[in-house]
Amino acid sequence: MPTSIRELYSERVKAAPDAYFPEPSEPPLYDFSAGDPPPEAYPLEEIREYMARAVEQAGLNLAKYRPTFRQDMVRGHPGLRELLAERVGARDGRHDMTADWLMLVNGSSEGLGLAARAFLGPGDGAIVESATFPYMVGYMRATGARIATVPVDRDGMVVDAIDDRLDELREAGARPKMIYVIPTFHVPTGSTMPRERREKLVELAQRHQLIVMEDSAYAEQYFDAPPPPTLFSMDDSGLVLQSETFGKLLAPGLRLGYMMGVPDAIRALDVVREDLGVNMLIPTMLEAYIRDGKLDAHMQRVRELGRQKRDATLAALRQHCARWVEFEVPRGGIYFWLRLSPELDWDKLGERLNAEGISCRPGEGFTDDSSGAGYLRMSFQQESLEGIERGVRTLGAALEASVRG
Ligand SMILES: Cc1ncc(COP(=O)(O)O)c(C=O)c1O
Repeated sequence: MPTSIRELYSERVKAAPDAYFPEPSEPPLYDFSAGDPPPEAYPLEEIREYMARAVEQAGLNLAKYRPTFRQDMVRGHPGLRELLAERVGARDGRHDMTADWLMLVNGSSEGLGLAARAFLGPGDGAIVESATFPYMVGYMRATGARIATVPVDRDGMVVDAIDDRLDELREAGARPKMIYVIPTFHVPTGSTMPRERREKLVELAQRHQLIVMEDSAYAEQYFDAPPPPTLFSMDDSGLVLQSETFGKLLAPGLRLGYMMGVPDAIRALDVVREDLGVNMLIPTMLEAYIRDGKLDAHMQRVRELGRQKRDATLAALRQHCARWVEFEVPRGGIYFWLRLSPELDWDKLGERLNAEGISCRPGEGFTDDSSGAGYLRMSFQQESLEGIERGVRTLGAALEASVRG
């Protein structure tokens, strides 16, 4: 009898949950699901030009495992790391930053996974927001660490609730080590933590000697005013790490992010990294692109387009869906977090959305318990302004057709 390869899976694979977000069987008519920045902003012509330049100028260096030193293979192109250290250092007032404070990663999700593996293991504890980026929770859990959740309100993670969770972790025999937090344009709720709460969080982490893993994936995508300073900018203890990604600045298909922290933190990531680093081509291209001021100009456009799409979605939601949904207005990022009226039948709504070709992320994919049920995370950056109007009108009709009874 042939042995099924499934019988040979590792325990980790056998225990793995289903996908957080099941794929629809057909491409959606209205994509309110994907977490990409606005596709119209993607600078295809410029990318083409800078790619060609990179190939010409870097020549054979692009073909090698590493430019010169092994460390540059594991951490990525030193030129881009130096530039990012300068850039983030200036933005965050961390003028001590050098290339040794950065590791390039294949998407910030890889960097988050490395941080989980570098600092957590069986017997350790970690704190996350009760609704969050579920992949990171999976990475942390896979280390054997125990996870505790604290609520998120309009001002982000409820920092006052952390002390009790730390006590619970300790009582359960775990040593708390890390807090994972998305303080700016939080996923999925869209909330942003004000400065005072940020200061409190950094102070708490320093007091308890905890690492803060700050996920800044969306922080540069603001529409109205720049967000408060990063947690990373407020720390002088070396306990705060920060993760950012070109996936949200330019395009997720580039699969390039960067993890930042004191050199001793980056050294720990070196140890757990197994893929021998990122490619040379895209970082080489991006170094010239950023040095020429193209990324700054691009971000202006992303913010402008994002604001227009946010406003169009807001107007359409108010016009077509107001009876069935409640929400806060996002000040940046990619998503509305819609709380659905209890009058709605969730199963019926799921069927209606499918039938109308609307894809949206169900809220429970972002929570460990049932508290996310009754929410939808709606991305407003994928569709054109007309697509948003038509899609939200269709969504309104689907909501109306899904009332219980
Ligand atoms: C909060 C958050 N962090 C990290 C990521 C991962 O981004 P990437 O791996 O594409 O850089 C995402 C993607 O949606 C996200 O929403």
